[in-house]
Amino acid sequence: MVLLITQMTPIAQGRDWERLLIGESWEMRQVCRMIELVGPRRATVLITGESGTGKEIAARAIHSAGPRGRGPWVAVNCTALPENLLEAELFGHLRGAFTGAMQNRVGRFEQAQGGTLFLDEIGDLAMELQAKLLRVLQEREFQRLGSSETIKTDVRVVTATNCDLMARVEQGLFREDLYYRLNVVPIAMPPLRQRRSDIPMLAEHFLAKICGMEEVPLKSIAPAALERLCDYSWPGNVRQLENAIEAGVALSGDRDMLEPSDFPLPQSNKPRSISAAAIPTIPVPDGGLDYEHTVAAIERSILAQALQKTGGNKKAAADMLNLKRTTLSAKIRTLEAVALN
Ligand SMILES: Nc1ncnc2c1ncn2[C@@H]1O[C@H](COP(=O)(O)OP(=O)(O)OP(=O)(O)O)[C@@H](O)[C@H]1O
Ligand SMILES: [Mg+2]
Repeated sequence: MVLLITQMTPIAQGRDWERLLIGESWEMRQVCRMIELVGPRRATVLITGESGTGKEIAARAIHSAGPRGRGPWVAVNCTALPENLLEAELFGHLRGAFTGAMQNRVGRFEQAQGGTLFLDEIGDLAMELQAKLLRVLQEREFQRLGSSETIKTDVRVVTATNCDLMARVEQGLFREDLYYRLNVVPIAMPPLRQRRSDIPMLAEHFLAKICGMEEVPLKSIAPAALERLCDYSWPGNVRQLENAIEAGVALSGDRDMLEPSDFPLPQSNKPRSISAAAIPTIPVPDGGLDYEHTVAAIERSILAQALQKTGGNKKAAADMLNLKRTTLSAKIRTLEAVALN
């Protein structure tokens, strides 16, 4: 997303913030607990997570979960503007401060006074602006571009990124001191595939929202279709689910019930891993078992199935199991050795 989004509309107040974030899985309850604790404080929060996991909506929930919820909410996407324009956007400028500065301008920091400034995609912030942001966070004051007047800020800063910010620090692309300043309270948004129990609730929520927006009578989702949604890996997370429900409503035409065929989900290129709960329990006899041989038997069964499904093609079998071909060949050799023992 490259558009600069700035919204200053009042949003959910009090405990209403809880209604922003749908989901009752253990993972989402942890996120909500963190939001509840951190909402009323001024501590800087860094929200991480894959694309579409709800980072921005979590940031809004933090804003609404404290007294700042009555103040402004200002969101800025750090990738939306080139460095010099972003600096003016954040801190404001005086007329004539730079070519093109035709009039005085109030920056986003000033607009967010008494409220929350959400800096999205913070990992892409240019080095020079990182230094400036660090100064503002530490000193709680700044100057507009071209002005010597110091402006005090009372702004709570929440940032988000879907990149590994620590890796960027290690690559010398992100200041370590700023990383720690932003990461006072870290909140990690879990990918949807790690909280599948939330899928039915989210699907119902989006179905009601989309039917309402499309002004069609409320539809329902057939059990088989819901099963399909629950089984899918959702590489695009909640945003992808929302879009899939929108497509489902459209493709169902006049039908009241959404069927599996109404959800044309692209095959994810990342194979799913089976959750621990789905793996059958291997009984350990009182007399014990041979660990190496037992695990080898499980591995052998997985490899044999993949080779059978791919007609003995090792490359295709390796792809199916998310292994390198050389790793698959090495495993086959090791397993043959275990069998000979
Ligand atoms: N727990 C949730 N409950 C309800 N809606 C959600 C939830 N999580 C995400 N959404 C919805 O999914 C969409 C994507 O969420 P959001 O924009 O917050 O994701 P993001 O992590 O910021 O994504 P990106 O990294 O691509 O910017 C939005 O429409 C949002 O309202
Ligand atoms: Mg976002």
